[in-house]
Amino acid sequence: MAYQVIIPAAGQGKRMGAGKNKLYLTLEDTPVLIHTLRVFDEDEECGGMILAIHPEDEAQFKDMIHFYGIRKVTSMVHGGRERQDSVYSGVKVLEEEGIVLVHDAARPFIKKETIHSLVREAEMEGAAIAAVPVKDTIKRADSNMVTETIERSSLWAVQTPQAFRISVLRNAHEKAVKEEFTGTDDASLVERLPHKVAIIEGDYDNIKLTTPEDVFFAEAILKKRKQLG
Ligand code: CTP
Ligand code: MG
Repeated sequence: MAYQVIIPAAGQGKRMGAGKNKLYLTLEDTPVLIHTLRVFDEDEECGGMILAIHPEDEAQFKDMIHFYGIRKVTSMVHGGRERQDSVYSGVKVLEEEGIVLVHDAARPFIKKETIHSLVREAEMEGAAIAAVPVKDTIKRADSNMVTETIERSSLWAVQTPQAFRISVLRNAHEKAVKEEFTGTDDASLVERLPHKVAIIEGDYDNIKLTTPEDVFFAEAILKKRKQLG
């Protein structure tokens, strides 16, 4: 079954410090935004992309989408102050039924296999997220004094895409708005419905470009992929 994908792209990239939305940065001459959109554009199961943008980026994003021949952006909505507001703008224009993915525009290395596993799992369970086992030991601290070491084997570093039955994501966002709850990902809104969320193990290279050093990691990932063909 075809899925839709909401792509939040309305951030400002403050931690990247590029003086503009980090999605304009290029990797091998192609903007980060286009790398991400291309994965879904080329996926035969993707029925349409809903892009949440900042009004200031609208003209330039439209030019880029046209220039690079991206065909499946079915709507552009204006994002909000927080990522969650931007996703909610997308939720409002979703079709009634089916599966929706939410995927950060700043994660250009998502693989089709992971997308398809998430869609299958969300069809069965209602909600599924991509994540990888945590590699570092994680401790809790009170200011800079350790209070606890958290058992690593139960910890996952969560990424996007996150996949949901449309009704589940819509209910979760509406409840969060009503209760003025802000979470750092969409699954956290779904968890408090409450609703179960399944994990699909993803890839360590599905990084989010956040700080300047991530650009070097991204270039290395692209180079590795080229070598592997
Ligand atoms: N995003 C969004 N609307 C916002 C904030 C973020 O659509 N109000 C999007 C970003 O464009 C990005 C994704 O959500 O694709 C993940 O957010 P993040 O990595 O935090 O990007 P920025 O918010 O742009 O960066 P920063 O927090 O450093 O300013
Ligand atoms: Mg942000």
